Amino acid sequence: MKIAIGCDHGGTALKKEILPVLKELSIEWEDFGTDTDESVDYPDFGERVSQAVSNGKVDRGILICGTGIGMTIVANKFPRVRAALCNEIYCAKMSRLHNDANLLVLGGRIVDKETARQIVQIWFTTPFEGGRHQRRLDKIRAIEAKLKCQ
Ligand code: RB5
Repeated sequence: MKIAIGCDHGGTALKKEILPVLKELSIEWEDFGTDTDESVDYPDFGERVSQAVSNGKVDRGILICGTGIGMTIVANKFPRVRAALCNEIYCAKMSRLHNDANLLVLGGRIVDKETARQIVQIWFTTPFEGGRHQRRLDKIRAIEAKLKCQ
């Protein structure tokens, strides 16, 4: 699996903490920055990662900002992106089982590093349940089509 990962200054530290988990899971990643604590605008980094997921250039994405809220708002503008803000383990699991989330968002100032590592591990190893949940995702795609998203 190949993923895109990105963050703003509120997520740089946590991003560094979760990269070893990706390595353990044999997940290849492209890092779209940022790499420092210098203040940047989260939509710039959110756009790059979300676009890669939306285009199918990568299988999934991870975005991190201070709370995760800004990145989630950006990511869910993109067709075919199902971004889930998961600052605890239960939502990480459910976002895969029920929502087939393809973009994980974390709050770098909310979640501690050990919990973040567990969230990432669970999110990448939990399958989508399908069935009635697929029908609901099909309805989301239909909404995108109605709104003329490409
Ligand atoms: C940046 O200070 C902060 O607003 C950003 O990281 C994020 O939390 C936005 O939702």
